[in-house]
Amino acid sequence: MPSEIKRTYINDLSQHVGQTVELRGWVYNKRSSGKIKFLLLRDGTGLCQCVYFKGECEESSFVEFENLTQESCVYVTGVVKEEKRSPGGFELSARTLHIHSGAVDYPIGPKEHGTDFLMNNRHLWLRSNQQHAALRIRAEIVKAIRDFFDGRGFTLVDAPIFTPSACEGTSTLFETKYFDEKAYLSQSGQLYMEAGAAAFGKVYCFGPTFRAEKSKTRRHLIEFWMVEPEVAFNDLYDNMELAEQFVEYIVQRVIKNKEAELKVLERNTEQLAKVKAPFPRLHYTEAADIILKENPAFIKGDDFGGTDETIISSKFEKPVFVHHYPQAIKAFYMKEDSSEPGSSMSCDLLATEGYGEIIGGGQREDDLNKLLKKIEEHKLNEEDFNWFLDLRRYGSFPHAGFGLGVERTVSWICGLSHVRETIPFPRLYGRLRP
Ligand code: 4AD
Ligand code: MG
Repeated sequence: MPSEIKRTYINDLSQHVGQTVELRGWVYNKRSSGKIKFLLLRDGTGLCQCVYFKGECEESSFVEFENLTQESCVYVTGVVKEEKRSPGGFELSARTLHIHSGAVDYPIGPKEHGTDFLMNNRHLWLRSNQQHAALRIRAEIVKAIRDFFDGRGFTLVDAPIFTPSACEGTSTLFETKYFDEKAYLSQSGQLYMEAGAAAFGKVYCFGPTFRAEKSKTRRHLIEFWMVEPEVAFNDLYDNMELAEQFVEYIVQRVIKNKEAELKVLERNTEQLAKVKAPFPRLHYTEAADIILKENPAFIKGDDFGGTDETIISSKFEKPVFVHHYPQAIKAFYMKEDSSEPGSSMSCDLLATEGYGEIIGGGQREDDLNKLLKKIEEHKLNEEDFNWFLDLRRYGSFPHAGFGLGVERTVSWICGLSHVRETIPFPRLYGRLRP
């Protein structure tokens, strides 16, 4: 009686050993040899081998098996057996097979495809084992991010996406229309988090951010997700402490909860296991000296390029902070260190193994007049920032925060070569579809 058979998911099979269950999913692979046929079934929660033995399964199902094509949608019943060699540790002694809906010439086969082809078929590519693993790790990281801040007394304060002005320089603004006004897609929720910190003490926002960057590097997306904590009365050093505890928490949680996915991605976790606070800290000048030894073309005072960051991170087993970047290469809101004129109380965190910057942040300028001067120097429209300046007019307070880019973090933890595989539907320079 089919109605008495319990429908279950592959990752719940351990609770049904010895029972007859129904699985619903798609054909990942199949092979047959005479009296025995193997269906590798995918249901979104995992993979399960379903074994059809002639004589033990329904005769018509044994015949129907021949009509299976990759990614056909199928309903299968059978008895759950423990099987160490099977992908999830269980297999199905299959009894019946019902093809709910076929699939003709599924475009992604086992052969090698070019990246462009796969990106054009991203909506289907998501079904493959590696993409699946990376996106499940992303989901774990997102949850870890929320748990970390929610568990430490932070209030989630969502920042708007339509903004009237720049936060991270005017060159990467994505312009749009807001009825009759000009508006921009948010580059960062930070300015709003500064208002949030004055209202709630410890806050964070977490959402998509946009940068109109015409660069095709393995680290750049046009639309990416950023989490931005902001804390009242934290200084630059408190900020680095929070950031290192945060990154340790994320990495250790993925190692603990996503072992199978990391294995699918063939990620060597030895290096990741060492990601424990405290992290080494370098003053900008120390970092610049390290770079100069291997890249004599580097000019002290300039921002680091991707290869410069790799030079620095290759010297350490853990992620490394670089702090006190020159004021000139940082955003208008960075506080100047009064004991070191020209240097900002900024900090970036560079990931291990050449993955580069995953965090940017620092202590904010809390002096009204200095901030006014910076807005002028950066050629920003003071009127747009009047509300932001109010935070310095009414009980100005020392505060600091940072932004962590989710996709760069996922790319690093998964050991992927490009951020495009860390987000379900990437928006890249030159790619808006699917
Ligand atoms: O260093 P950024 O630009 O810092 C800010 O936006 C600050 N307002 C954050 C803050 O202090 N609240 O960006 C922060 C992080 C980077 O370290 C990087 O991980 C990520 O956001 N990021 C990008 N990720 C993918 N593609 C891009 N185009 C990115 N730009 C920045
Ligand atoms: Mg940055």
